Amino acid sequence: MKENKHKLACVILAAGKGKRMRSDLPKVMHRLAGRPMINWVLETAEALKPEKIIVVTAPGADAVRDAVKPHAVAVQKEALGTADAVKAALPALDGFDGDILVLYGDGPFYTIETLRGLLDAMRGDAKAGLGYLAMTPDDPTGYGRMLRNNNGYLEGIVEEKDAGANEKKIGLCWSGVMCGRKGDMAQWLAKVGNQNAGGEYYLTDLPAIAAQDGRPTVITESPLAETLGANTKAELAVLERRIQDRLRLRAMDNGATLVDPATVYFSFDTVLGRDVTVEPNVYFGAGVKVEDNAIVHAFSHLEQAVVREGASIGPFARLRPGADIGAHSRIGNFVEIKNAKLGDGVKASHLAYIGDAEVGAGTNFSCGAITVNYDGFSKKSKTIIGDNAMIGSNVNLVAPVTIGTGAYIAAGTTVSRDIPADALAVAREKPTVIDGWAAKKRPAKKG
Ligand code: UD1
Ligand code: CA
Repeated sequence: MKENKHKLACVILAAGKGKRMRSDLPKVMHRLAGRPMINWVLETAEALKPEKIIVVTAPGADAVRDAVKPHAVAVQKEALGTADAVKAALPALDGFDGDILVLYGDGPFYTIETLRGLLDAMRGDAKAGLGYLAMTPDDPTGYGRMLRNNNGYLEGIVEEKDAGANEKKIGLCWSGVMCGRKGDMAQWLAKVGNQNAGGEYYLTDLPAIAAQDGRPTVITESPLAETLGANTKAELAVLERRIQDRLRLRAMDNGATLVDPATVYFSFDTVLGRDVTVEPNVYFGAGVKVEDNAIVHAFSHLEQAVVREGASIGPFARLRPGADIGAHSRIGNFVEIKNAKLGDGVKASHLAYIGDAEVGAGTNFSCGAITVNYDGFSKKSKTIIGDNAMIGSNVNLVAPVTIGTGAYIAAGTTVSRDIPADALAVAREKPTVIDGWAAKKRPAKKG
């Protein structure tokens, strides 16, 4: 077996029906911090650097197939149980000769240290045929209970449905993670039957079958925090909270200041630089990068956006996909920015909308100014603004339109033609003024 020592393939089971989620989505496609559960498991599997990763899915699970690319998918025709699911992966491992590590797609928290510990324990025991990862949950209800023999090896696992009163008292449960050598596993999997209360082929039967060949199963125990899985929406919410806590710690470890970490929501891929400050109640959707020394004030919502060095966002700002905020810019309250590249030092301090635009460095976007980027048919038209322009309050820039460098657009102007550099554009009705009108009207209104 020596030649197998460092070869590894991971098989991830994701073909179960996930009925308890009461959802049209395959269970493993439910998202944690914006990323499908299966991708969290894959990230861990990838970190083990196996030769192959095979994900076992149900027929027609195209969403799962797409989510796990470039890894291979093996289809389990019918959900006949976990042993049958591993069997379904074997053809995809044709020609591979090494160890197989089986993970469940609904258990995203295992660390590579714990998984390596299991592999090492099996590899370090010359007699051992399998390795099973144990856990001791506060409430073992629903889990397979592990029976040990006098030598500490695993004798068998009894599923909840098949357990008697005494077996139900056992606290040591199977986590769902196991490993073995491919050749052995193929042989033993072929012997698994379905004579049990569920009528399924259980992976839990393998240790007893291996024992008949004189090959014991080693047990290692996982830290409890890693064993959380999601069978229901309520459990999914618990996992989300855990993952958020981890992402908050990661941000702080990288040098960001989170004033009240528990109120900041991250995406799996959020990147915060050094000395970024994030105030309470901020939401990061997917694909956000915030560079060093920037500040994100309270109640801001960011998604697929870049905030460059030293910029200030919010409070109550919304950065939508494609927002790229230049260094030291200031984006204030109730400002929405979409698909727009802002140069350095741009100011949009309140109540503005900038969409499908390029804004030059140092330009000021006053209160109530907006880009009019939708003509009722398409949003393809762009607004291009040069450096150091002054866009007054309540200005409408009707795209496609170009505002030259240093141009002034007077408050209240609707601009629907290009404005040259350094020009003033003003479109304003002269008010009609009637002296004494209000004073005369007031008594009548009061009466
Ligand atoms: C399983 C174990 C149980 C263990 C628990 C830990 C078995 C028989 N039971 O129970 O001992 O304590 O996990 O969480 O293994 N799957 C398939 N094809 C199938 C059936 C399941 O791919 O035909 C996949 C599911 O998508 C899931 C995983 O296998 O990712 C586990 O299935 P699930 O039904 O959740 O098993 P549990 O009842 O949790
Ligand atoms: Ca499960």
